[in-house]
Amino acid sequence: MGALIWLASYPKSGNTWTRAYLNNLLRNPDQPAGINELDWFTLGESSSRWFQDLIDKPITEYSKAEIAELRPKAQEELTKASQDSVFVKTHNILGLWYDHPLHNMDITVAAIYIVRNPLDVCISMTSHYGMTLDQALFRLAQGAAVTGLSDANVPEVHGDWSSHVKSWTQPHPQMLVLRYEDMKHKPFPTFNTMARFLGLKPPKERVRKAIKFSSFKELKKQEQKEEFKERSEHAEVFFREGKSGQWKDTLSEDQIARLLEDHHEQMARFNYLPTDWEERIAAWHKRIATGEAESRE
Ligand code: A3P
Repeated sequence: MGALIWLASYPKSGNTWTRAYLNNLLRNPDQPAGINELDWFTLGESSSRWFQDLIDKPITEYSKAEIAELRPKAQEELTKASQDSVFVKTHNILGLWYDHPLHNMDITVAAIYIVRNPLDVCISMTSHYGMTLDQALFRLAQGAAVTGLSDANVPEVHGDWSSHVKSWTQPHPQMLVLRYEDMKHKPFPTFNTMARFLGLKPPKERVRKAIKFSSFKELKKQEQKEEFKERSEHAEVFFREGKSGQWKDTLSEDQIARLLEDHHEQMARFNYLPTDWEERIAAWHKRIATGEAESRE
């Protein structure tokens, strides 16, 4: 029976990339590992299959409070997947839901948290959830953001972006926090840190190969050849742009200011704030006052 290593992130922040890298690093294949093989090595926390042995009617007939209570027990099922540590993807906030922990700490050994600039996250959300940018900004600020219950999945409890980030990034020796932007712009040191955090000391060449085999170009190429089973029904493709800084050409000044107002405290911790953020918020409020911009509601 293994213990759990959480691969945690707010949605659209680079979780799949992390899983693709680890898949290639650990398996060390001669050809890039297939995008539809990610779940060989990394399991999804919200899959209802972990609840199957604990329930006596369809999962959809359970209340959210009942699912919250069963969740820590269901996570014990995940430990049976391997003798070694088990990598588990989670988008849940690190905290309680209906007074029950969303992550069972008794069986947890470590966590890797990936954070991405919310100014870019919101663009990625529009494609994945089939929503407008304004809806994505609302969602990022929505404290009670929870996904739906279906036969296949139990609800994921996201909360708002700032609370999510804050919950997972309190200093802890068993926790590694990495930025999407560093994975992109400083790949070797960032991915090597990930390997070392996991107690691995792979040769540099093996890390470089895993980085190459999980590059955006490679993953996108694979998706052009075969359907990626994790693509949402709303999105044309999963591997969309894979860029940082796209917000500069995509978001309106009002949208940028609104997001800065909502999330500046956590954004500052990760160096995501433009230097003129306060001026941008003040200018937006001025535009609202003069009727040039719409107020929030
Ligand atoms: P975009 O929609 O901006 O392209 P998650 O896996 O957490 O849902 O995150 C999805 C985002 O990560 C998408 O962002 C996706 O394209 C991007 N992504 C996936 N693999 C990547 C890679 N190898 N390099 C850069 N970005 C990647």
